[in-house]
Amino acid sequence: MSEVKTPKVSLVGAGPGSEDLITVRGLKTLQNADIILYDALISDELLSQANSNIPRIYVGKRCNQHSFTQDDINLLLVQNAYKYGHVVRLKGGDPFVFGRAHEEIEYVESFGIPVSIVPGVSSALAVPSSQGIPMTKRGVSSSFWVMTATKHNGSFSEDLKFAAQSSATMVLLMGIRKIAEIINEVSKYRSSITPIAIIQNGTMKNESCIISTLNTIQNSLSEIDISQPGIIVIGEVITDHPSFYEEEIQRVIHSYL
Ligand SMILES: C[S@@+](CC[C@H](N)C(=O)[O-])C[C@H]1O[C@@H](n2cnc3c(N)ncnc32)[C@H](O)[C@@H]1O
Repeated sequence: MSEVKTPKVSLVGAGPGSEDLITVRGLKTLQNADIILYDALISDELLSQANSNIPRIYVGKRCNQHSFTQDDINLLLVQNAYKYGHVVRLKGGDPFVFGRAHEEIEYVESFGIPVSIVPGVSSALAVPSSQGIPMTKRGVSSSFWVMTATKHNGSFSEDLKFAAQSSATMVLLMGIRKIAEIINEVSKYRSSITPIAIIQNGTMKNESCIISTLNTIQNSLSEIDISQPGIIVIGEVITDHPSFYEEEIQRVIHSYL
């Protein structure tokens, strides 16, 4: 007789990319799953640490190429909880940072299925941090502002304008395709020599990082692969990046050539 499983769902933050940046609780929960529904940006190395005999369903959404809509995902969570028992919904970074976690929780709980949350290390903090870029620094920046460049309807977020007028370190997610517009908008309010960093595939083997200033970043935009996830950081804290002054010297030399 097959064992009857009690349906439950765990929303687990997988961390920013590297498989060892999941939390201990996240990994334990993953290893206790009866089925995994996972996002884009979840590494194979992390998935390989789960029980290899359980089903895994990829439900990622990258660059508007959605394998499943949000409604499909909500339904899959409920159906699979009844079918298999413990569903682990593995989400990039932290589930509550641009992760639509609340929609999944509301839907699953409306069926009386319990949901638990395992926080994750958000890419918003971990990706700059792993590059040696602080979010705050005494006497330089006393706050940071994490935002997206575009709202859900595709329009440009007005928060960008407000953040640019503050002295906060700006951290932009999902902004790579809008980089030229972002630079243009921020340049209206901040000095042209404000440092900017663009970090793609942070904490992973194929990580890349461009360090520049608002007035010279245009020269580096061709190096960016817009199909890859990236974080844009704007603010004086970037001067702490090991290569900032090296790049700055190159920029000055080129301006005299
Ligand atoms: C839908 S948001 C989800 C964020 C996630 N919940 C978190 O806390 O990190 C996806 C965006 O996060 C950023 N992102 C996530 N992982 C990244 C990584 N390893 N390197 C650079 N950017 C990353 C990119 O801006 C990407 O478009």
